[in-house]
Amino acid sequence: MGIGQPDFKTPDHIVDSAVSALKNGEHGYTQGKGMLKLREAVASDIYNRRKAKISPENIVIVPGGKVTMWHAILMFGGKGKEIIYPNPGFPIYESVINYSGSKAIPIKLDISNNFKIDFNKFESSITENTSLIIINFPSNPTGGVILKKEMDKLVSILEKYPYIKILSDEIYSRILYDNTEFISLLEYPQIQDRVIILDGWSKTYAMTGWRIGYGVWPTEFAKIAEQLNINSFSCTNTATQFAAISALQGPQGSVDQMVSEFDKRRKIMINLLNSIKGFECSNSKGAFYLFPSIKKTGLKSDDLENILLNKIGIAAVSGNSFGKFGEGYIRFSYANSEENIRLALQKIKEYSEKIGWHAKT
Ligand SMILES: Cc1ncc(COP(=O)(O)O)c(C=O)c1O
Repeated sequence: MGIGQPDFKTPDHIVDSAVSALKNGEHGYTQGKGMLKLREAVASDIYNRRKAKISPENIVIVPGGKVTMWHAILMFGGKGKEIIYPNPGFPIYESVINYSGSKAIPIKLDISNNFKIDFNKFESSITENTSLIIINFPSNPTGGVILKKEMDKLVSILEKYPYIKILSDEIYSRILYDNTEFISLLEYPQIQDRVIILDGWSKTYAMTGWRIGYGVWPTEFAKIAEQLNINSFSCTNTATQFAAISALQGPQGSVDQMVSEFDKRRKIMINLLNSIKGFECSNSKGAFYLFPSIKKTGLKSDDLENILLNKIGIAAVSGNSFGKFGEGYIRFSYANSEENIRLALQKIKEYSEKIGWHAKT
């Protein structure tokens, strides 16, 4: 239950498109920012799902969602700059911010308010040196989401600081539960000229190993992102780009099926986690992670991670792998079968009841 990738197969029609592309001789370089046909397919998906009209020229295809954050942090970071990012959050943000020479300024997320942004604290962390703000909803590792009225509030703050760029990591945009509406920062024209959107195929279409994602960039930065592509990897794998077109334009039933299967597991897992002594799990409505507080076990996150792995045989990820404010939590991925989830949680419960969290190891 450690790794963050769907336990489903990439749908056959997507795989078939890549195979036919290769057989048809589609194995040369493409344009640095990706094939026009793919960027048009992304623009049309964005129009349908995010209610925003984006030119294919503003879309840059990259080998995985991660590359858009790498480009953005290197483009806007540097010595003397500050970058605000969620903590606990996807570990790569802090790592690349540090690498860029910028100062990493965490937005603390906490279970007490369902891992939402505390807007007062958020605004007080903005300074004249802030160059980039990263937000991520639905979130890894918390599973937290942002609602329309909260996004409106966030945007009203961002509007006051026109010199700051915003990177919205929307890689889990299709993985939402309980009829939660997806809200994208692209839906706010007042800040669109400084918003970068990160999304891709990895999670939605179970394509983590194919390595493909996209960024939506304001015009002047799209050109720089394309240059960074050309200078580092020339273009994203061509057959994978064909597969990505087919994913967006083909039947979407497999996505709905996957999300409804995740939802079933999510509900089971929240109930079971809350029945374990010392665990407190919130009703997270996005992605495929749960991030229970384990503070009442009295254990450090790393110690619990070790007990789970070495004494019980379950892989989960210590909360502090996601930043210092992740201490006191542990991340479980429910990209695993219902049977395994039930078995794993039964074992944890039994251990906590029969042996206890403070038994001598
Ligand atoms: C929040 C978040 N952003 C981006 C990524 C990167 O996705 P990709 O595998 O497409 O690079 C991940 C993957 O785990 C993620 O959790």
